[in-house]
Amino acid sequence: MEKEIKQCNCKKEKDSFLKNLFQEYLPEKDNLIQMLNEIQEHFGYVPMHVQKELSEYLGIPMAEIYGVVTFYSRFSLEPQGKYKISVCLGTACFVKGSQKIMDRLTDRLKIEPGQTTEDGLFTIEQTRCVGACGLAPVFTVNGEVYGKASVQKLDQVLDELINKEKQ
Ligand code: FES
Repeated sequence: MEKEIKQCNCKKEKDSFLKNLFQEYLPEKDNLIQMLNEIQEHFGYVPMHVQKELSEYLGIPMAEIYGVVTFYSRFSLEPQGKYKISVCLGTACFVKGSQKIMDRLTDRLKIEPGQTTEDGLFTIEQTRCVGACGLAPVFTVNGEVYGKASVQKLDQVLDELINKEKQ
């Protein structure tokens, strides 16, 4: 019987993405952030092997690139869930009970801040002030702000997302 051999195209896709990226941008240090933005958007995070290729292409040490990736919250080192839920634990939100919202979220999704559910749907993050203190407590889903939030509101939003994904 003939054995079926399946091959993953991941490497090819990765290579063609980077090839295009390197064609689009000159190897100049000033292009780092913009290239990282594109990498984050394409992969959903900034993989280490891509940081290495970027380091070689731009002539910037890996440590420096890693420093930039970990400094800006819009970049991540791990694959992110389809829905990124961030609970603000800044002072204004905290005094209005945002910790309870965070506790409910980690309890329901069974993961901690910084982690992603196994099905790849949800990532939990904690933030420090998203500039909407007047609406405290606040949580966001993929950047959309839910103000004057409560555990009930979180449950409602979470249920809607879970049901949407079941359809
Ligand atoms: S402290 Fe939460 S929005 Fe400012």
